[in-house]
Amino acid sequence: MDTVSNKKVPIIFAHRGASGEAPENTLAAFSLGLEQGCDGFELDVHLSKDGEIVVIHDDTIDRTTNGSGKVRDMTVEQLQAVDAGAWFDEKYKGEVIPRLEEVFDLAPPEIVINVEIKGSCEGKLEPILVELLKRKGRLDTVVVSSFDWKSLKHLKQLEPAIKVGLLYNLNLDHHEHLPAAAGTEVYSLHPNMKRWEPKDITGPQAAGLQVYGWTINQAETMTEAIEMGMDGIITDYPGRLKALLKGTPA
Ligand code: G3P
Ligand code: MG
Repeated sequence: MDTVSNKKVPIIFAHRGASGEAPENTLAAFSLGLEQGCDGFELDVHLSKDGEIVVIHDDTIDRTTNGSGKVRDMTVEQLQAVDAGAWFDEKYKGEVIPRLEEVFDLAPPEIVINVEIKGSCEGKLEPILVELLKRKGRLDTVVVSSFDWKSLKHLKQLEPAIKVGLLYNLNLDHHEHLPAAAGTEVYSLHPNMKRWEPKDITGPQAAGLQVYGWTINQAETMTEAIEMGMDGIITDYPGRLKALLKGTPA
């Protein structure tokens, strides 16, 4: 039983998987998140040259693989030919850039997946994502977020049942007004935990919005987010948050 009395228990989102302890956005990082007891994944997506949605943060493969080049200029076969694990630790050699579909296949159906659109490729990614979510039965358990709110509006126009979340770095008193600015129905707000004061989420929650803060890695900030009643906490260290919620901090 959780020991956070009188507080709702937040969804633990493994940010890029358990990326504090495994190479970000790889199946190894998502598997480790599951082992550590996360409830959800946050991951970043781009479109390959041949129209496959792939899971990688940057628009190039240079930082997180042994290759180089732009994601959008490479086919999925080329992208999966490079190593995405050894840069982090030699023991992860052999990890590849996953296709989004592979992460959906890895995640048990109850795991919530926050898909962050990094590069929409001039609107080409959205219809492919809608088709994939429908085909994999993931409309209910995926929240699509982006700093590019036009991309989210585009998604909602294609499929009104999709849940979308606004990502932002703003310092605001009243976050609940953001959906009006986005011009579409919004499911969740994704504020940068470092960028706003005072931290008050009662307004958005009263407006029926979920609040998922990022990237919350230290025990003190995790405790602050729990005390605020945050609905979801996006962290590189899901095991640390799980232990804190159980009252057995590492
Ligand atoms: O979705 C929250 C967070 O992932 C946004 O920033 O750069 O880590 O993708 P970034
Ligand atoms: Mg992200």
